[in-house]
Order: sequence, then C-alpha cells, then structure tokens
Amino acid sequence: MAPSHPPLRPAPGSDTPLPPDQRAAEVQTMFSRIVPRYDLMNRLMTGGMDGRWRRRTVREALVDADPRGGIVLDLGTGTGDLARDLRAAGVAQVIASDFARPMLVAGRGKPGLAADSGVTWLLSDALHLPFADDSFDAVTSGFLLRNLVDLPAALAEMMRVLRPAGRMVALDMTHPPPGLLGQVTRFGVERLVTPVAGWLSGSRAAYRYLPQSLEGHPAADAIVDLLRATGFTDARYERMGMGSVALHVARKPSDA
Ligand SMILES: C[S@@+](CC[C@H](N)C(=O)[O-])C[C@H]1O[C@@H](n2cnc3c(N)ncnc32)[C@H](O)[C@@H]1O
Repeated sequence: MAPSHPPLRPAPGSDTPLPPDQRAAEVQTMFSRIVPRYDLMNRLMTGGMDGRWRRRTVREALVDADPRGGIVLDLGTGTGDLARDLRAAGVAQVIASDFARPMLVAGRGKPGLAADSGVTWLLSDALHLPFADDSFDAVTSGFLLRNLVDLPAALAEMMRVLRPAGRMVALDMTHPPPGLLGQVTRFGVERLVTPVAGWLSGSRAAYRYLPQSLEGHPAADAIVDLLRATGFTDARYERMGMGSVALHVARKPSDA
C-alpha cells in the first residue's frame, strides 16, 4: 500500500501549520488541559444530544452481534461515555483507549467506569495500536476522527484489529450539508457552539480549535471513499444534529 502523507494542519488555536507529530502533541496537550470541564462542555455544546448520538453509535456497533461475549475497542475514548454505554448495552469487555492520560484518569473516576466495571483503560495512540490482528468484534469512536493527524493510517489500524465481519462505527462532527440547513447549522456552530466552548473551557485555543479541526478534514462522502479504499465493505454514513454530525459505519470483509 502507498504510504499516506498527511497534510500539514494548524495546531489547536493557531494558524501555523505543524508537522503531524507536533500537531498530535498539541492535540494531546489541549485535551489534557480541558478535562475538568470536558463532560459539561459536551452536554452544553450539543444541547444534551450527544447522549442520544452515542447510544445510536452503540446500536450500530452491536448490529448482528451478541454483545455478551463480545469485546469492543473504543478509540479516543476521552472520559469514557461511549465505553460506559457499550457496557450498559451488555458488551462483556470494553477497552477504553486514548493518548491523553488525564482524560483516562477522569473517566476511570466516573460512576460505572472503575477498573472492575468491565472497562479496561489503556493509554495508546490510535495510529499504533498495541493489539494483534483480528482482536475486536467492533471498534467505535466518538469525536475522534477529525483530531487524527493521519486518518488513512488510523482507519488501516482499525481494520487490522477488527475480526473478519467486525464493525467500525465512528461518530464525529462533519461539514454541514449544502443548502439552507447547512447555512443554519454553520451559523449555529460558529456563533453559538464555538463561543460557548471557548467560554466554558476558559481557553482561547480550545475556542478556535472546534471550527479549525474541521478545516482539512474530509467531507462525510470522502470518508466513505477512504473507508472503501482501506478495504472496508458496506461503508455508509448518516447525519444527525441538523447535519453537523456524521455517524460512519463500515464492516471488515468476512473473508479478510
Ligand atoms: C473530542 S474528544 C472525544 C472523547 C470521547 N470519545 C467523547 O465522545 O466524548 C477526542 C479524544 O481523542 C483523543 N485522541 C486524539 N487523537 C488521538 C490519537 N491519535 N490516539 C488516541 N487518542 C486520540 C483525545 O485525547 C481526546 O480525548
């Protein structure tokens, strides 16, 4: 396979493009800094809709699967809300993985997410997963994709660690659709959600990061193309949140 060459993208809150390694370090630092208010920011910025989106993500991950014997990897788990919902849906074992240690520490302290809860917390980079091939029934992620410095490489890692016929389910913000709905959504994100994020996080960088993280991020259709190019089958997406959020779903081929 040809090596991927991720474009230079600005660091959170800056206009200066950084090489991928440096940008990943900046992303890691920024998420580590906003931990104390992260969950509250999610609730307020999405008008409380993120819970519903996560439960939809879990349902998609578990289509065709009996969760009771299952093992699911939640990448970029942050404070573990998706991991908690996977356990609540009956998944036997959830690996909650992130490269920002403070996020994991905060998550492990939340109700239902302690070390003996069936959730295993793991500090790891989504681009270099410490797992054997074909390890997981599903790989999920919430609001991770646009933070990755090399999306094709991350998709290839997800594909590698999934068992044949396993499902990749990724929830994230996306570029609003064209037309009136898109204009309304763009206005809402720029004039309401972004200022609220800045105010709550107490960080000008976080304030600027939200719209910036979408710059250079592929459109939802292009992510479907990337999934197919990685070798996934049945790749598709649905929009939620007035078009501002996309849920991508794909499957590793049964004969892979
Ligand atoms: C917006 S937060 C989402 C957290 C959580 N999934 C949620 O839905 O609330 C993005 C998370 O992805 C993590 N992240 C970004 N790039 C990563 C990478 N390469 N490997 C692992 N985690 C990463 C960040 O540290 C952060 O916790």
